[in-house]
This record gives sequence, C-alpha cells and structure tokens, in this order.
Amino acid sequence: MYTYEELKNFVDHCTRCELCRTRNHPVMGKGNLNSPVLFIAEAPGRNEDRDGIPFTGKSGELFDRLLENIGMDREAIYLTNVVKCHPPGNRDPKPEEQELCIPYLKYETLLLRPKMIVCLGRIAAQRIIRPDYRITREHGTFLERKNVWMTAVYHPSAVLRDETKLPQIQEDFWKIKKKLEEIQRE
Ligand code: URA
Repeated sequence: MYTYEELKNFVDHCTRCELCRTRNHPVMGKGNLNSPVLFIAEAPGRNEDRDGIPFTGKSGELFDRLLENIGMDREAIYLTNVVKCHPPGNRDPKPEEQELCIPYLKYETLLLRPKMIVCLGRIAAQRIIRPDYRITREHGTFLERKNVWMTAVYHPSAVLRDETKLPQIQEDFWKIKKKLEEIQRE
C-alpha cells in the first residue's frame, strides 16, 4: 500500500495523458483524510490549475457556502476530482483522460475509506455511480454500494449558470447532512 504522500507525489509528476503538457499544476484532492464524506467533482478549472488546490474559484465559493449552510467546512470533508489536471479551455475531460486518471481516485478512495461519496455534477456521477445517471432526475437520491452511501448533486458551476437550481442543491446538502448523521449513529 502506498501512503497518501506517495500518492500525491505520483499525481504531482504524472504524465499519463496529454493534459500534462498544458497544465500548470496537477490538483490532488484536499481535506480531512479521516472524513466520512468524499466529494468528487469533474476536473480542475483555470483557478485550480493556477493554485494547485481544488475549487478555489467562484464555484468553490458557492461550494463553501453550501457546506457552511449545513454547519460544515473544508476541514470536515475531503474534496477531489475525477481528473487531476485542467482540460484546456475548460472542456469536459475526455473518456480516455478519465480512464487514465481514475486509478488515482480509486487509490484516494481506498486510503480514505469514506462512508459517503457525493458526486458534484453529471461527469462525476456518470463515472462513479452509473454511466446513464440522469443528474436532473436523480440528484439528491441515495444508493448504497459496498457499504458506502452514494449520491450526486448539481455541479456548483451549473448552479452559478442557472440560479433556479440553487434551492435544489441547498436541499440536497441538507439531505447529505441528515444521511451523515444517520450513518454516524449506526
Ligand atoms: N470544477 C471542478 O469540477 N473541480 C474543481 O476543482 C474546480 C472546478
């Protein structure tokens, strides 16, 4: 088994796909390694590529507010992406880039052993939960797989583009809080 630091080192020097040629910083996940909840987004954006930290831009600000609403912060959770390097022009990460990067996420998950996984947005939900996952229909619903509760919510940047989604994502965060409380009582 590799340690977390060793895994981070692999990510920091990764050249598995073409994104390594255009990235500034690979973005390893960040947060509490003992957290019961793992949030998984899509891929770093421009700000994250500059800073080397997940969700430092506008969608990160919204993410922080959503956490704050349910009495949590980044110290209480762990946050990462399916793809660790910024796709140029903010395009969706290609299936082959996801395929080459996913072993890092699998290993991160193995080290964290979360009790709950929350996918942020369609790309993560379709990669982690089910290829035909319909985020508009299924967001905020839970399923259990191998003793891990899974759900998906809208991607914060989708909420920034369409503010009518805000009440829905706020409600989904409340469901996450409730479920976490349930899990911790078990
Ligand atoms: N969007 C993502 O999907 N991930 C980040 O880290 C930042 C923006």
